[in-house]
Amino acid sequence: MKQTAQKTILITGASSGIGQACARHLLAKGWRVYACQRSAPLDADLQAGLRFVPMDVTDDASVAQAIAKILAEAGIIHALLNNAGFAIAGAIEDTSMEEARAQMETNFFGVLRVCRALAPIMRAQGHGHLVTISSLAGVIGLPFSGLYSASKFALEGLCESLRFELRPFGVRVALIEPGDFDTALPANRRRAAAAGPNSAYSARFEASQKAQAADEAKAPKPHLVARVLERILAQRRPKLRHVVGAAGQTIVVPLKRLLPQAWFEAVLRAATGA
Ligand SMILES: NC(=O)c1ccc[n+]([C@@H]2O[C@H](COP(=O)([O-])OP(=O)(O)OC[C@H]3O[C@@H](n4cnc5c(N)ncnc54)[C@H](OP(=O)(O)O)[C@@H]3O)[C@@H](O)[C@H]2O)c1
Repeated sequence: MKQTAQKTILITGASSGIGQACARHLLAKGWRVYACQRSAPLDADLQAGLRFVPMDVTDDASVAQAIAKILAEAGIIHALLNNAGFAIAGAIEDTSMEEARAQMETNFFGVLRVCRALAPIMRAQGHGHLVTISSLAGVIGLPFSGLYSASKFALEGLCESLRFELRPFGVRVALIEPGDFDTALPANRRRAAAAGPNSAYSARFEASQKAQAADEAKAPKPHLVARVLERILAQRRPKLRHVVGAAGQTIVVPLKRLLPQAWFEAVLRAATGA
């Protein structure tokens, strides 16, 4: 194993969107970036110096093999960005147990799997940054995104606990909570199979999808998230939660804290069409 002064980061789900933006940004800032993804990388990214490692976060062997390969090459992993994820839309009642499990398997167990594989390595190193992409949906239970919100709320609890546990070993845990960003998330969003015209929620679900699409159409580019990540990685003791996004969306975080519950729910109903 060889070690260099260059810092090394492992990014999951680096094939598009936020993961890709973070990978390219940190590469430009001099990081050795391991872009972990299921699909083949773009030639231009490889030529620019991104290192590609195959990884499916739902697969134990795939995660273990990827980390072993990176360690063999780089000798050390300074930082992890848990980014891989997708969203399921639909009323909770319309979401089957299989659909719910698939959501949790990637968004929650995928992060847990990678954290469990890397925590002993970072502990032994005596340092590391372990950063996870949550969401504003991890702060607020969004109507008709209940399973997605549940997966992100689960990450919030996991990382809040992990931060205590890893602190004495010099490993820093942080969460990024983005609002809507211009990525492939909407295109990759799965609809619960039962969320059709026969659903009792159909009209409100469709209205919420329309409101969501309107928000997503004006979403900012994901390089803003990459800048937040860069700032976290530069800090010896980053805070736990880092909200990023359009001001009209991120305002919901203080509003949830400050407004009476009934007022907050009225604001959210108006904003989401639910
Ligand atoms: N965009 C937003 O508005 C927004 C807001 C808040 C939070 N987020 C979060 O940001 C993260 C990135 O999403 P994005 O917006 O950048 O969407 P995206 O463009 O669809 O990117 C998602 C990435 O996750 C990967 N992925 C999905 N399942 C995977 C698996 N089993 N194993 C490995 N990789 C997997 C995808 O890989 P493939 O190409 O192989 O499918 C892709 O690289 C997600 O955790 C999402 O929840 C996004």
